Amino acid sequence: MSSTLAARARFRSRRTLHFTESVIREMTRLALQHNATNLAQGFPDFPAPAELKQAAADAIAADVNQYAITWGAQPLRRAIAAKYRRTYGLEFDPETEITVCCGATEGMIASLLAVIDPGDEIIQFEPFYENYGPDSQLCGAEVRYVTLHAPDWNFDPDELRRAFSPRTKAIILNSPNNPTGKVFSRAELECIASLCQEFDALAVTDEIYEHILYDGAVHIPMASLPGMRERTILVNSMSKTYAVTGWRVGWVLAPPDLASSIRKVHDFLTVGAAAPLQQAGVLALSFGDEYYARLAADYAGRRAHILDTLTRVGLHCFVPKGAYYVMSNFSTIKLANSPTNSFEDDLTFVKYLAERIGVAAVPGSSFYSHRGRGSKYVRFCFCKKYETLELARRQLLKLEER
Ligand SMILES: Cc1ncc(COP(=O)(O)O)c(C=O)c1O
Repeated sequence: MSSTLAARARFRSRRTLHFTESVIREMTRLALQHNATNLAQGFPDFPAPAELKQAAADAIAADVNQYAITWGAQPLRRAIAAKYRRTYGLEFDPETEITVCCGATEGMIASLLAVIDPGDEIIQFEPFYENYGPDSQLCGAEVRYVTLHAPDWNFDPDELRRAFSPRTKAIILNSPNNPTGKVFSRAELECIASLCQEFDALAVTDEIYEHILYDGAVHIPMASLPGMRERTILVNSMSKTYAVTGWRVGWVLAPPDLASSIRKVHDFLTVGAAAPLQQAGVLALSFGDEYYARLAADYAGRRAHILDTLTRVGLHCFVPKGAYYVMSNFSTIKLANSPTNSFEDDLTFVKYLAERIGVAAVPGSSFYSHRGRGSKYVRFCFCKKYETLELARRQLLKLEER
């Protein structure tokens, strides 16, 4: 037995030692175990657009069932280029600058593996989307964290400057932001852009929530800022905008020299995204402005619903300006029958929520490098049917009754 254990340790690569399995997916398992309403993982539980489902079914029936070109079927790359021209006036060459991959998840890791060497530094804002930590570790990068400060999730420009060094290869920027709902302003982007230029670093931007915006917030792609087109890797996907998180179709937009490295990594990681779903993506990317206006208005309604529930039960909410999550502070919620009258930390609180209240959420500490910084926060997602949000409301109201 001991030799088996020794063998097991021998076969655990160093690059996997410092991160754990996804906390968010673990919360989904907890939700299933306790039959709790899942407000943890950010996937819509309502149907995808009917015409997209039909387009995917048609593509399979028409035998679009073999490998597409590794960097993406040409009609989809052209549709992506046309959408960025229409929406932002940005030009990307489908032949040399667009790579279709298996979701933003693969887009991010393929991009980082293509440009980062072990020992390079990557800057990340925290709280952060949980994938960036393991992504950076798999590349052997050292991460420098810059804090987004509640309640507005602003950063201190001096702290950001101190994080940059000659070893900085890239900064990862996610706007609209998961988990905070922050939408970076032009002034903030300019501050980041000028440091990228001064220190010869890349911006790797995750823009997956670009169309989910509230209260007049505007999404500005980093690549549209002067001097940033040639030093930005833009990562995006169909997952959130078209409610198809299970399709695994995303893309990376980058200048030709970077794209050619990214394409090599992508080819050997996954070969390519599902061919029939890429074909359906052509239809999605050609939707008109009204689709995106409806999407944002629709999520604004769901946001109002969940904010009403969460504030009613006494959580302090940070109102998101984009994306579909609410970070909230639960320290105002009192725990009956406890000597301290409060929950010890976020893990205790989310466990209590799943087991006793029937709602799964994500512990705030999973978004921080020093877990203590997030120990009073919990994140709820609201990309759910009203029926689900209503059920969650009835369950969460039990918090009031304790
Ligand atoms: C910020 C962010 N990036 C990427 C992803 C994953 O995207 P995809 O489904 O395209 O891999 C998510 C999913 O929650 C996310 O919140």
